[in-house]
Order: sequence, then structure tokens, then C-alpha cells
Amino acid sequence: MDNPHFMRRIRSFVLRQGHLSAGQERALNEFGPRFMIPYAAEALDLDAAFGRSVPRVLEIGFGMGQATAEIAVGRPDSDFLCVEVHTPGVGSLLKLIGEQGIGNIRIVQHDAVEVLEHMLQPGCLDGVHIYFPDPWHKKRHNKRRLVQPDFVKQLVSRIKPGGYLHLATDWEDYAIQMLEVLSAEPALENTADGYAPRPDYRPLTKFENRGINLGHGVWDLVFKRRAG
Ligand SMILES: C[S@@+](CC[C@H](N)C(=O)[O-])C[C@H]1O[C@@H](n2cnc3c(N)ncnc32)[C@H](O)[C@@H]1O
Repeated sequence: MDNPHFMRRIRSFVLRQGHLSAGQERALNEFGPRFMIPYAAEALDLDAAFGRSVPRVLEIGFGMGQATAEIAVGRPDSDFLCVEVHTPGVGSLLKLIGEQGIGNIRIVQHDAVEVLEHMLQPGCLDGVHIYFPDPWHKKRHNKRRLVQPDFVKQLVSRIKPGGYLHLATDWEDYAIQMLEVLSAEPALENTADGYAPRPDYRPLTKFENRGINLGHGVWDLVFKRRAG
């Protein structure tokens, strides 16, 4: 059951206009109708959306979608429901889908907080990926961070027992918050002792590589939903 007092909604993003390239616009027109699922405040039939029934992973905030596409190609036996608000990012992932003939991604362009609340049913997910969520560095903006107790509780309710939650961040203060929030959620258990080694399926992004070369850290967290 969802908490009836469920959060004052987190507003974790700012809608930027951003430049839409000609290629992204073309991809939106050409591949959008096939690979995008319109937001609706009702339960989504995932079998119908993907046309098959295999393990399902939700990704929140895929940015330009490079890692998303790479993961989907590397894991053809899973399906990926990918949520992002930013139009150029959606166009960019659709372009990759078209170029690489990727069949196991569907995109919802909407606030993931609402998608989670209205479109996804309890226990429908085998995994969740949230990579480099906006860190909201300033103390007074910390409340806009996605990874907070109420949101995590709801997220975990959508994951099957034994399913996983994989987060990554390059902002240490947020990594500490993630570890605290996930460790305090009784339905989750840590698969590692603290932070986890980067799982092989998550590619190193260009931006991350640059950070590592500059001596910056990246923290992965992999937790599982407890059985029962
Ligand atoms: C810092 S970027 C990281 C993008 C990507 N995961 C990566 O590693 O490059 C965070 C992304 O999350 C998206 N985002 C933030 N809050 C969101 C929400 N509530 N629903 C959907 N997308 C969201 C933003 O639009 C942005 O593209």
C-alpha cells in the first residue's frame, strides 16, 4: 500500500528548453510513435507495452541515453522502461534506438515521480537504475533530490522481492545520503559492504571518465528488495 500521506511531491528537475538537433527531431517523429508511451494516470500494461514478458528495469533520468542504449544492447533478455523529462534527451535516445535497431526500450517523457505513482503497479519491476541524478548541490536545494525516504519507499514497493535498485553518483555528499536512505529502508538489503563495485553492465560514461581522470570519485550502490 502506498503511504496515504505520500510526500509533498519532489520536484527534482528544472525543465530546460535545450537545443533540439535536426537528428533528434527526426528521431522523435520517426521512432517516437513506436517507442514512446504517453503518460497517463493509470496502470500501464507492461506485457502489452513490450510485447513480451521478460525481466523489466525502470531507468529514471537517462539524460542523452548513451548508457541506457549500451545497457539495453548488452542485456537483450531484459526490457527497459526509461523515463526522462528533457526533450533533446528523448530525441537522442530515440536516435540511438533507430541507429542501432534496439527493440527492448520504451520511453515515457514525464516526471518519474508521477510515472511511479500512477503507471507502475506494486512488484512489477525486476530492477531500477538511477544514474547521476541531479545532485542539487546547495543545501537549500537538497530537498529536490530524488533519493529521499518516502520516494525510495514507493520505489521499492514497485520492485519484486529479490529485485534490485542500482544508483550511481559522482557527488560525495549525495552518495552519503543515498547510502543512509537505502540502509534505513527496512525492505532493502545492501548487496555490498557500503558502496558497491560498478557492475559490468553499467558503462563508464565519457563524463565519468573525465571525472575519474581528474581524481573525482564515483559511487555505485546496489541494494536488493528483501523477500517477503
Ligand atoms: C544529471 S542528469 C544525468 C543523466 C544520465 N543518467 C547520465 O548519467 O548522464 C539527470 C537527468 O535526470 C532527469 N530527471 C530529473 N528528475 C527527473 C524526474 N523526476 N523524472 C524524469 N527525469 C528526471 C533530468 O532531466 C536529467 O536529464
